[in-house]
Amino acid sequence: MRKRLIAGNWKLQNNSSQTTELIGKIIALTAGAGGVDTVVAPTFTSLHAARAAIGSSGIGLAAQDIFWEEKGAFTGEIAPAMLVDAGCQWAIIGHSERRQYFGETDETVNKKIKAALKVGLKPIVCVGETLDGRESGKTEQIIEKQLVGGFKDITDFSQIVVAYEPVWAIGTGKNASPAQAQEVHAFIRTWIAKNVGKGAADNTRILYGGSVKASNAAELLACPDIDGALIGGASLIADDFSAIIRLSVEK
Ligand code: 13P
Repeated sequence: MRKRLIAGNWKLQNNSSQTTELIGKIIALTAGAGGVDTVVAPTFTSLHAARAAIGSSGIGLAAQDIFWEEKGAFTGEIAPAMLVDAGCQWAIIGHSERRQYFGETDETVNKKIKAALKVGLKPIVCVGETLDGRESGKTEQIIEKQLVGGFKDITDFSQIVVAYEPVWAIGTGKNASPAQAQEVHAFIRTWIAKNVGKGAADNTRILYGGSVKASNAAELLACPDIDGALIGGASLIADDFSAIIRLSVEK
């Protein structure tokens, strides 16, 4: 039994007061919606405000990125324990925007996953192919490389969540079809079964991300290997994000 997980990646949007307001609306609109884990990932500077706004509502708090060192001369970086101190339980790692604009590699993803696990943060690890990759028939090859590199030497998947986010579907309004998403999710689950173990494959939640909206969430979530969603644009709209949370019933 895998509990559904609906996560909002708020990217570079919203200051602290906007974050507080958005969380307040989500709490009000999802009151009584049980059986689903909800997580939000505001900017670093809004984490404290988010923590306060979340209160005892049960919403999880995620960082959008993490650094692997504990301390030292690393100007601009934030240590894993500092994210715990700010109230995070989760960290998004390896988002395609980090890979595309900030030089994230499978090797740095691997270091970040290990650093997150060490302080008890649950990693939401993103993988996904570009349009070029898909059109040249290399989707599985690309995903496999990201899994092999990202999860090198990681054998305990009990805290791991994987997010499949095809780059061509992010922020484009063009989501992967349920069949396209299911195919890759099944591939990821089979990879986990072969390389980590059957138990891990059965229990690891695999989220889909890329133009998830209230109007397409139900058909994506109906796929057997899609256990939740990582949502950008629609998670910034309280009504839409809350509608997706409400329609996510426990599998
Ligand atoms: P959109 O939902 O805006 O396509 O973004 C998806 C995403 O990148 C979530 O991490």
